[in-house]
Amino acid sequence: MRNLAPASVFDHYLNISRLLAGQLDFHSVIQSVAAEISHVIPHDHLDVCIILVDEQFHTAYETGLETDWGRRFPAPVSNSPIRTLLWGETEYLLTDDAWSDPQFHFQGAFSHPIFHQSLHSRLHVPLKVQGHVIGALSCSSHRTGLYTMEDIENARVIADLLAPHFFAIRAADQAKRSAIVEAEARAREEGLRLGALKLTEALEAERQRIGMDLHDQILADLTRLSRRLERLARQPDVTGEALEPLFRGLQHSMHDLRQIIEEAKPSVLQLFGFAQAVENHLERSIQESAATLTWSLKDETGGAIDCLEQSVSIALFRIGQEAINNAIRHAQASSIEVQLKASESALTIEVMDDGLGLGNARRLSGGGIENMRTRARLISARFAIKAKAATGGTLVSVSLPIAAKPSGGAAA
Ligand SMILES: Nc1ncnc2c1ncn2[C@@H]1O[C@H](COP(=O)(O)OP(=O)(O)O)[C@@H](O)[C@H]1O
Ligand SMILES: [Mg+2]
Repeated sequence: MRNLAPASVFDHYLNISRLLAGQLDFHSVIQSVAAEISHVIPHDHLDVCIILVDEQFHTAYETGLETDWGRRFPAPVSNSPIRTLLWGETEYLLTDDAWSDPQFHFQGAFSHPIFHQSLHSRLHVPLKVQGHVIGALSCSSHRTGLYTMEDIENARVIADLLAPHFFAIRAADQAKRSAIVEAEARAREEGLRLGALKLTEALEAERQRIGMDLHDQILADLTRLSRRLERLARQPDVTGEALEPLFRGLQHSMHDLRQIIEEAKPSVLQLFGFAQAVENHLERSIQESAATLTWSLKDETGGAIDCLEQSVSIALFRIGQEAINNAIRHAQASSIEVQLKASESALTIEVMDDGLGLGNARRLSGGGIENMRTRARLISARFAIKAKAATGGTLVSVSLPIAAKPSGGAAA
């Protein structure tokens, strides 16, 4: 029997109170008071479990021995061996031997540390704030039959000293966590807003470019043509031969105009599908560049690439287009390879060249790369541009996460 004089117990309580001052987290509180508590309630293991604000989960902080109780958290309250106490169904738990006490061993109980650490005698009292259980104080010993109702009474006093501190720390932790969640949400929103802004700017620039092209090429051509027509009209001996260059000029302008419209709106994409549109772009751009380049295109997506929302597939196509343009314009490559791939979780487009690589780039973005990145971000795709180690050259890849298909469909 342990007999402590009431005055000495009171001294220990006072010490516990003093030690609590200035401790700002659960661990430091427990570390600092454990020795003092052991004078009143001897133990090999002490832990404090705190119910999270959602009431469903709890965390545990321990001293003495390290067990899985302290490592595997947060854990559901319903799996705790002392859940009746945490639910407020009982005022205390006291056992001479937790190994054989059935109240700790129910289906799903997280009780293996009792065996792993040879915990026999155990006592548990609730930490209460204004009558509400916010957690529990637990002491355990390797010995059997150690604790009595007197220990429970002492533990209650200690729990009452600790509870308000833990309550305050829990509230501070919660506030900190909410602040972080809120800051993250705000950062995400801001990122999206900036992305949209950049794309709007890019689209605006694109519109300006189209306007300029129309102005510089087509309008200039048409103006020239109409002047010549005027001049011709004033001449008495106009022949079909004289009109010939005019027709050619007109045809040229119409061709240019078609091309500008084509670039502004990838209609092939909608009409013939993604792979065909990429192929079309490859063929035409290489032909126009007059470079001697071979190309290949592999579509291994089994049609998945053509099941995307229009805005998503346009964004992907634009990215592919720019990657191809860069390979033709900057890489001095001898071949360009485009691969469209599909996995369970993503659709990936890769544009590879065997050219100079990015090492000699004077600047790593003239806007084109930045636009690819922005377009990818707006459709939540991952974008990368990097050197291809084995063969030299550059690899652009854009990978769009796809949700798993809902089950239960009439899949063949
Ligand atoms: N496939 C590539 N091979 C070699 N260099 C490249 C390639 N793609 C991009 N670059 C380099 O990166 C620079 C930036 O590309 P980009 O942002 O598209 O701007 P721009 O096409 O206007 O030059 C290019 O000027 C070029 O030097
Ligand atoms: Mg470019």
